[in-house]
Amino acid sequence: MKKALVAYFSASGTTAKLAAAVAAAAEGELFEIRPLVPYSAADLKWTNPLARCNREKIGKKTIPLAASVENWTDYDTVFLGFPIWYYGAPNVIESFAKNYDWNGKTVVLFATSGGSNIGKTAEKLLAFLNGCNAVADARVFGAETSNDALSLWAKRFCQE
Ligand SMILES: Cc1cc2nc3c(=O)[nH]c(=O)nc-3n(C[C@H](O)[C@H](O)[C@H](O)COP(=O)(O)O)c2cc1C
Repeated sequence: MKKALVAYFSASGTTAKLAAAVAAAAEGELFEIRPLVPYSAADLKWTNPLARCNREKIGKKTIPLAASVENWTDYDTVFLGFPIWYYGAPNVIESFAKNYDWNGKTVVLFATSGGSNIGKTAEKLLAFLNGCNAVADARVFGAETSNDALSLWAKRFCQE
């Protein structure tokens, strides 16, 4: 089995639950991508034009992160999980991605959303995945996706 890392960002816990199931299936390490300054409920109120989420999105801001992955070079497969924000990956995911060398990694994206599909998320994120030419898969999963279904999906990317 390839060595897997499951790195995820989750603002309200939905993606976190899926990430734990993916990590269990892949027998991988779980890493939570946390902004240095956590998001408050007010920060996430996208209906308020002045909310932090909207300011970061419009300003294309890089988000300072709380921690980095140790032993990055040990991992063969990296699952990257996040909620869909504004039809794509949140800035915090782009900020995480550009800190690492993705050359030689199998990169797999998974997301949860309020109904949007994955759209052009993978293509857009590639600009931040230095050394990665294409992601192996990119999917939105429903919050209630069973662990068995996630496991079946995740294991495909971990076989030697
Ligand atoms: C700032 C912000 C932007 C969002 N944009 C979208 C969107 O474009 N499409 C969508 O279907 N859901 C959108 N959502 C909803 C989240 O994708 C959804 O609730 C997700 O499951 C939350 O995952 P989490 O609990 O791991 O943070 C948005 C949520 C926030 C806070």
